Amino acid sequence: ADRITNICCIGAGYVGGPTCAVIAAKCPEIRITVVDRDPARISAWNSDTLPVYEPGLDALVKRQRNINLVFSTDIDRAIDEAQLIFIAVNTPPMHHHTHVSSLGAKPDLSAVSDCARRIARVSLTDKIVVAKSTVPCGACATIAQMLRDNAQSGVRFSVLSNPEFLSEGTAVRDLLHPDRILIGGDDMVAQDRLKAVYMHWVPEPNILTMNMWSSELAKLASNAMLAQRVSSINSISAICEAVGANISEVAAGCGSDSRIGSKFLRPSLGFGGSCFHKDIASLIWLSESLGLPEVAEYWHQVLALNRFQIRRFVARILADASRGDGSSGLQGRRVACLGFAFKEGTGDTRNTPAADVCCELLRNGATLSVYDPKVSRHHIVDRLAAAAGTDCSVDSVTVCADAYSAIAGSDIVVVLTAWSEFRVIDWEQALKLMAKPAYVFDGQIVLDHDRLRQLGFNVFSIGHTHVTAQ
Ligand code: NAI
Repeated sequence: ADRITNICCIGAGYVGGPTCAVIAAKCPEIRITVVDRDPARISAWNSDTLPVYEPGLDALVKRQRNINLVFSTDIDRAIDEAQLIFIAVNTPPMHHHTHVSSLGAKPDLSAVSDCARRIARVSLTDKIVVAKSTVPCGACATIAQMLRDNAQSGVRFSVLSNPEFLSEGTAVRDLLHPDRILIGGDDMVAQDRLKAVYMHWVPEPNILTMNMWSSELAKLASNAMLAQRVSSINSISAICEAVGANISEVAAGCGSDSRIGSKFLRPSLGFGGSCFHKDIASLIWLSESLGLPEVAEYWHQVLALNRFQIRRFVARILADASRGDGSSGLQGRRVACLGFAFKEGTGDTRNTPAADVCCELLRNGATLSVYDPKVSRHHIVDRLAAAAGTDCSVDSVTVCADAYSAIAGSDIVVVLTAWSEFRVIDWEQALKLMAKPAYVFDGQIVLDHDRLRQLGFNVFSIGHTHVTAQ
């Protein structure tokens, strides 16, 4: 009776879906029901085309589905039947306009609170409630209080913090081979039960139990430190362009120091995705509310540098590729945008640097043809319309079905996502399709720049000395 045999996961998103698919595959004796208040999401999980693209996910879900993995909209029933409930709903940043001086943003925990109240109302037996959503320090204690306040008489809840560290694009691999699992809480029995679930496939030394606050803070701190590495290398890339150093060489020079390590030192247009911005904003908010403005300011610089990288890149395009015939900016220029997802391996466009670059290009009068191998036309248009606001229109955006159709007729190619298929584009062929002089701006350092220059392209790449052709 002490073993977990029935799990419910509330939130069938990027985290809930893949996480439960892996648990189902690794724990055949556990039945998992993933529920969501969005019926479209649930029917997509039950269909041939899953709502989330991740390498390996499709096969995994289709193998376990309706064996021990169920997707349902019947939230109350799934809660009632489960011994352990994951909360994996979204925790977006709250947009507050009142404190303009504040650098941070408190995460909106209303979805998490809704879940807590619902669990309390529906549960007739004791439950372990596990916060998988990323929440600020103290949120699990608040969840525990809400559960107690709203509980049916005699029902006991144990709350654990179990943040998720998967990264989009490699979610299944990350879930199968996690560097570590954190289980925060003060109920050791509950911790052991959750630990027993993970021990089906995760070596025991990789499962760390700790107090609730440590576990909550470790998640925010990990994302902040990863983003900080991106901003660190990008700050150095700006120096490279000015002094003639090559960022790839500098990154190798730094990264081969075992104390620094080589991962996450790839210069780029900056980080995107749903988590880094929001979690740093949450850390900044936390620091401010604890009366630690120096700490808040420190992390704020990581965000500021990320925006600086986009401004620099667009400024470079304007400086090099404006017509110079008196017409302003990029008026009359067609720009092929290769990639739109916030990184390779995913179709996710939340906070994608590509949208910021595209909007700036549109504001400067450019016409865009966009291609991304995993992002659908309507996602690109919707994301751009949202990012553009009212000061520019997406009428001059065409979404293309492949890289060559995007490149055809363009003056400028910009690489916005590091998809490996861009490396194997036939650039000789591409050059024939383009107007001359042809420009390539590589924001992700994926192309062979020497070869492109030999072919006759004007090439600029982030973090490399700026050489003009001719
Ligand atoms: P998501 O937006 O993809 O999915 C959340 C789902 O929860 C949605 O389908 C939504 O309909 C559902 N939902 C919201 N409120 C609900 C309610 N009251 N009842 C039932 N369903 C409800 O979000 P995602 O990306 O899966 O993130 C979830 C949490 O995990 C967030 O806190 C995020 O910070 C964290 N996280 C996300 C990672 C990522 O790579 N996306 C990685 C690690 C953590």
